[in-house]
Amino acid sequence: MNANPEQASQKISHLSSVQFSDAAMKEFQKILTRYDSKRSALLPVLHLAQDEFGWMSPAVIDYVAKLMDLNSAQVLEVVTFYHMFHKKPVGEHHFQFCVTLSCWMQGSHQMMKSTCSRLGIRQGETTADGKFTVSAVECLGSCGSAPVVQVNETYYENLTPEKLNRLIVSSKEGAPKIP
Ligand code: FES
Repeated sequence: MNANPEQASQKISHLSSVQFSDAAMKEFQKILTRYDSKRSALLPVLHLAQDEFGWMSPAVIDYVAKLMDLNSAQVLEVVTFYHMFHKKPVGEHHFQFCVTLSCWMQGSHQMMKSTCSRLGIRQGETTADGKFTVSAVECLGSCGSAPVVQVNETYYENLTPEKLNRLIVSSKEGAPKIP
């Protein structure tokens, strides 16, 4: 069957817009050396791709699939299974509130709602300046320290409204932290 030239060129430009930097490509090669099979390296390679591109766009999924000798559906399956992979662009500070039972009973849902109203967005949205995204996520595996919010890669445990306030203020100033 002849390929539609327009579709073919769209596919090429879609893929060529995504490429690891030299540093990320070096890291990719290094990751591969740690695993017996290329497929086993998929999770760390996906983390690397998210660090590099910010979120798992269809183009990034296609790119990773190509690098890993997999098809895009196989990569998408893994990306959709794990909450830590972003399926759409997120803000600079991504507040992910655990709303599973232990955290929910300790008020995580209320804290998420108050964060949203303070930032003028709804759950799942990003502020217009691209600084904040607020999401609800399932158990973060730290139930003994409930309630928990994950901001980018860092967990903040035993959260209280006061701690959350400090976290939001410090994030607005540039670096999230609870002093
Ligand atoms: S229920 Fe929130 S970390 Fe497990």
